Order: sequence, then C-alpha cells, then structure tokens
Amino acid sequence: MDETRTKVTIPELRAMVERGEKITFLTAYDYPTALLEDRAGMDMILVGDSGAMCLLGHRTTLPATMEFMVTITAAVSRAAARAFVVGDMPYMSYQPSNEVAIVNAGRFISEGGADAVKLEGGARMAERVEAIVKAGIPVMGHIGLTPQAASAIGGLKSQGRSAATAKALIEDAKCLEEAGAFSILLEAIPAKVAEVITGRAKVPILSIGSGPACHGQLLIVHDILGLFEAFTPKFVKKYADVSAVMLAAFQAYIKDVKGGAFPGREHTYTIPKEEWEALSRLLEA
Ligand code: KIV
Repeated sequence: MDETRTKVTIPELRAMVERGEKITFLTAYDYPTALLEDRAGMDMILVGDSGAMCLLGHRTTLPATMEFMVTITAAVSRAAARAFVVGDMPYMSYQPSNEVAIVNAGRFISEGGADAVKLEGGARMAERVEAIVKAGIPVMGHIGLTPQAASAIGGLKSQGRSAATAKALIEDAKCLEEAGAFSILLEAIPAKVAEVITGRAKVPILSIGSGPACHGQLLIVHDILGLFEAFTPKFVKKYADVSAVMLAAFQAYIKDVKGGAFPGREHTYTIPKEEWEALSRLLEA
C-alpha cells in the first residue's frame, strides 16, 4: 500500500463537486482488483453486495451475508491507499431495526475498514440513515433500481419513468439528504429525473445508469471488464474483454501441461550435486 497518497475524504468529494470535477466510482470485491483501481486513481470504491452475483454465482444479491461482506470489504480496504471505500449493507442487515442497522454498519467500519456504508431505500429508510449517521458513520443512500427490493419493484428494471414515480424519487432524495446521507446513488433512473435531483441536491449525487448530469459515475467492475456473462444492463460500457484473456490463458496452460511443455527447466528447483550423490548412497544402503 502506497502510504504517500492522501485518502479521499467526504470534504474532498464535496470539493470535487464544487470544482465541477466528476467523481469516479467502481465496485471491487477483492484485494488485487482494488489495488489496481486505487493505483489507476479511482476516487471511490464500492464493495457491493453484487459480489454475491459476480463472485459467488448467485442469481440475486440477497444471499450476501454480513460475514461475506465484511471479509471482502476488509480485503478492499487493505488495498485502498487513496480511494474512499463504501461498504454495501446486505439484505436484512439494516431493515429490522435502528439498533441492528447501527451494529452492522459499525462492523463495516471497525472490521471492514470502510469509510462509509451504503443502504438501499428512500423515505422509508430515512430513519435508519439518521440513526447510523447519529452513531457517527457516514451513509450513502441508494434509490431507483434497488436490487434488494427487485421483486417489489417489478424486477431489475429502470425506475421513475412516470411523473408520479419520478416525483417520489425526487422526494426520496430530499428525505435521505435531510436524514444526513453524505451522498446519494441513483440507479437506472431517467437522465432528466437524475438531473433534477442533482440540481436540487446539496450532497454529491452519483449515478449508475442515471445519465451524465450527476456528480459522478459508478459501474460494476465485472461488467466493464467483460467478466459477468449472465446479463448486461443497458447502461454498461465494456472497457475490456478480460474473459477472453483468461480463457486463452487457461487453454494455453492446459495445452502446455498435456503436451509436456510446462513445467520447463526454469520452473523447477535443483538439488546440489553432492547432496544428490549423498541421497543416492542413502537410497542404496
Ligand atoms: O451491489 C452493488 O454493486 C450495488 C450497485 C448495483 C449500485 O449496489
């Protein structure tokens, strides 16, 4: 970890908004990926519960547990010398009560080394946001397409496309801000609605699939690297085909082992001549 680079803080995120500098935000679920994101200069890293899908192969984010999330958050935090790390509170880690929410948010900070937590929901979750913030933990709100509520909102679909639902989202953002959220993430809502929310907000507004007007952009690392094959949302831009690189490497390794080209002399250890001779004598005795 490069200790010479200064950690991004909430005041620095606000300053970026003031300067009109876009905030860069990407998910990570492991140490080596987070190390590269941090080295590349990413401002924020989300340890998303999408790790349940990208890493563990689940069909939804719901099976993510606190143990899993805290473990991977700690791995990412160890790598993030500069990036601001947000731990994603998994399903049922904050919904039951303010007390449960505070205890679990605290684990992301104390065990996971995160700088903040994120939770899903608007006005209905404002009480939880307020309770966690009062406990001294920064909270990012998340509205629009909220995957933990997929069955209630009709699946993994864009939200806020009618006047009534768009107005509700604008009110949700206001409630979260009033509850003390340091930032709000808008997922898969119309760009024009996101622009209204961003224009009215006093906190950094981040977008995943919600257009260019927001103060920053988030994507899922497995999507931009071409490592998640189950489906690709409309808002994803693929920056590399890492699947193809990995597949080719695996196939080349199989070919080398089957054909005897690996391991070569340069991959094997030697024993000093006198030790080898001594071993031969021992074996003969
Ligand atoms: O878990 C996650 O990666 C998220 C994003 C989809 C916003 O919550």
